[in-house]
Amino acid sequence: MQTIVELKNVTKEFQQKKAVNDVSFSIKQGEMVAILGANGAGKTTTMRMMLGLMKPTRGTVSLFQKDSKHKEVLERVGGMLQEVSVMDSLKVKELIQLIQSYYQHPLELSSLLELTGLHEEEWNKRTEKLSGGQKRRLNFALALAGNPDLLFLDEPTVGMDVTARENFWRKIKELNKQGKTILFTTHYLQEADEVAERIIMINKGEVVGDGTPEHLKGKLTKPRVRFQEKISYPIDFYRTLPFVAEVQKEKETVTLVATNADQLLKEIFDRQLNIHHIEVKLGRLEEVFSQLMEDTKEVDSNEHLLDAK
Ligand SMILES: Nc1ncnc2c1ncn2[C@@H]1O[C@H](COP(=O)(O)OP(=O)(O)O)[C@@H](O)[C@H]1O
Ligand SMILES: [Mg+2]
Repeated sequence: MQTIVELKNVTKEFQQKKAVNDVSFSIKQGEMVAILGANGAGKTTTMRMMLGLMKPTRGTVSLFQKDSKHKEVLERVGGMLQEVSVMDSLKVKELIQLIQSYYQHPLELSSLLELTGLHEEEWNKRTEKLSGGQKRRLNFALALAGNPDLLFLDEPTVGMDVTARENFWRKIKELNKQGKTILFTTHYLQEADEVAERIIMINKGEVVGDGTPEHLKGKLTKPRVRFQEKISYPIDFYRTLPFVAEVQKEKETVTLVATNADQLLKEIFDRQLNIHHIEVKLGRLEEVFSQLMEDTKEVDSNEHLLDAK
């Protein structure tokens, strides 16, 4: 499949602040991808750069192997941003028709109504008179007006109730099935998990995970066995233990990321290691995620304290 979004070492600095730090990824035609990150992680900045609304400080962005501002690219891309200033004093219908007129193959009004849930009575309203929910539907309609192949959605469901959210994702999935490539941001882990085929996780402007929800869950939810050493063993020794995926050692505190915590504990006991204060932490995905995102110190739930004398 063709690569249609490509970021190479993209960095965005605002004065001293690095909002996006050396981000690289590529997206293929037909993918449904979530960019998942806490508030301030750099999602909107990344999206603005992809849409060509903001220039990277360093690095390159290309859409359909071209610059984001290339005419052929603009024809094929739709975007729904978080904060939008729609043109006041136009009626909804006029604004949509204006945007449609920019495109060669716009979506028909009837399809737009169907897809976005805009009601006909909202049609003749002036845009400044719309409620929050109506504005969102209008923005969605504007993003879809040109019948784009590639759709960017920046936290599209914030403020929606459960039903609206379900309807929205049903439509988006429909569009994805038709072959459209969808890239959306969210700070809801559950939403990314349910909707996306691939999640790119960002934290403090950096990509910290990229893969299918299953892959990321597998990676994030591995249990960890932690203990204090009474005598010091070399880190390479721990690496040779079976059922160990990863070793972290800080002074006498050792954390082993386990592929199987029970089996690993058995190994540790069998070998009669000179250690104490053994803990097993079974990270729940939500907790591991928020830990990863907020850089808080530890995951403390599901903790079992054992003492191996
Ligand atoms: N125009 C700007 N000027 C200065 N700082 C900005 C600007 N836009 C975003 N930032 C900062 O960059 C970081 C990332 O912001 P943003 O991309 O909006 O994050 P997200 O969309 O993930 O919440 C934040 O710390 C934010 O305050
Ligand atoms: Mg944002």
